[in-house]
Amino acid sequence: MLKNKLNLYFDAKNLSGFTFKIFQKLVSSQFTSLLKNKIERMSDKATLKIDGQEYEFPLITGTENETAIDVKALRAATGGVITIDPGYKNTGSCKSAITFLNGEEGILRYRGYSIEELADKASFLEVAYLLIFGELPTAEQLEKFHTDIKSKSIVDEDVKKIIDAFPKNAHPMGILSSLTSALVAFNPSSVNVDSDEEMYNAIVKIMGKFPVLVAWAMRKIEGMPLNYGSKSLGYVENVMKMMFEKPNEDYEINPIVKSALDKLLILHADHEQNCSTSTVRIVGSSHAGLFASLSAGISALWGPLHGGANQAVLEMLEAIKEDGGDTKKYMAKAKDKNDPFRLMGFGHRVYKNFDPRARIIKKAADEVLNDLGIDDPILDIAKGLEQEALNDPYFVERKLYPNVDFYSGIIYRAMGIPVEMFTVMFALGRLPGWIAQWREMRLGKEPIGRPRQIYTGENLRAFKTINNR
Ligand code: CMC
Repeated sequence: MLKNKLNLYFDAKNLSGFTFKIFQKLVSSQFTSLLKNKIERMSDKATLKIDGQEYEFPLITGTENETAIDVKALRAATGGVITIDPGYKNTGSCKSAITFLNGEEGILRYRGYSIEELADKASFLEVAYLLIFGELPTAEQLEKFHTDIKSKSIVDEDVKKIIDAFPKNAHPMGILSSLTSALVAFNPSSVNVDSDEEMYNAIVKIMGKFPVLVAWAMRKIEGMPLNYGSKSLGYVENVMKMMFEKPNEDYEINPIVKSALDKLLILHADHEQNCSTSTVRIVGSSHAGLFASLSAGISALWGPLHGGANQAVLEMLEAIKEDGGDTKKYMAKAKDKNDPFRLMGFGHRVYKNFDPRARIIKKAADEVLNDLGIDDPILDIAKGLEQEALNDPYFVERKLYPNVDFYSGIIYRAMGIPVEMFTVMFALGRLPGWIAQWREMRLGKEPIGRPRQIYTGENLRAFKTINNR
């Protein structure tokens, strides 16, 4: 009986159709909001039946009434049964109070504030503070945060030797990930998370040094001298100066570019348990230091299915333009299951509706290009693709909408940022989110992340000597 049980697992991919009986009254979203926090369930437990035996597991409800089955006790209770869910499509890895995302309704909030309001009214540094510490800062708190960041922004000169060793055509995401990891060698690698002071110092250090690394990664590929900005500037203005200042002329901040960059960084600042954030949390769960965890997150972000999509989108739009602007041809390729081509910047694991960030960025792209007097034909190609996709049954049925990466590259390009730097800009925006999630994970004393597996390889077999193979 026990052996039989050990070979069993339930497949959470088909959670709703499986023998799970959740004795929960399913309420519509309208009803849910009416009864906010007063949901009455028929039961707060889920029952799982395996080989005729029933097991009960508690249901957990979040502040926005999402429900999870708490399977912490599953393996012990059943004598070895686990859940399996490739890509974690149904699996919550943690409880988190940082970001709320409702993909069906296209809602995104940081610490309870809507992304629309934050993008409109807040600065990136305010949002960083909010994400990391939980509340919007007062003017004094913000001033102190910025002063502390600036005081820690000097990067050891020896880091420049590491940059020197990279070939000129190295991808800046590779440079950024390596340099962030290298910072560990120049700074204590672990933080005593029980010390507020050590935690705070680690946070302001990386908030100060990371933009320098971002700027240096760009200046390396552009063959420009590695400089520092100015302590007298705001956080985002200083990033711009460090990135764009030419060695032979004074740099003047363009307020249109500054405001667009602030907005873009805010929109990218956190997105709950996405691939790179989960990476940061899982690496950090081994008690690797903050910088090492961030470096791993940067590598995860680099992939074209995640943050690397912004570079891929621009390259795709350029290719369509070069190919005569025939959007229908590329729509057909995206739908052809024998063609690996995907419409980059479309679709999302969680959003089954408009990505609220994409709406804001599309509007900003129009404004920025207009204000800067730029007429970029790829903006028209992008809008054409969007229009076709929104009316195409393939995209409609699969609920594929433009995501955050679809229009962002067009703005970055208008700002004069090279295409290989787009994902680096995403990383700069995501930094406070990664820090906030790492901090929450460490303060929450979460156990080391270590999934299980269902082994499908050979059973025990005898070793064959080399002549008998
Ligand atoms: N073009 C064409 N078909 C698509 C696309 C696309 N961009 N995205 C999904 N599909 C199809 C997919 O082929 C599948 O079809 P079927 O049901 O017939 O097999 C269906 O839609 C579901 O897709 P999936 O790959 O199972 O969904 P997923 O949740 O595993 O993947 C995704 C989500 C974002 C990786 C995917 O939509 C994608 O590859 N998009 C393009 C890359 C992109 O823009 N990534 C940025 C994501 S947002 C920013 C970020 O997270 O960093």
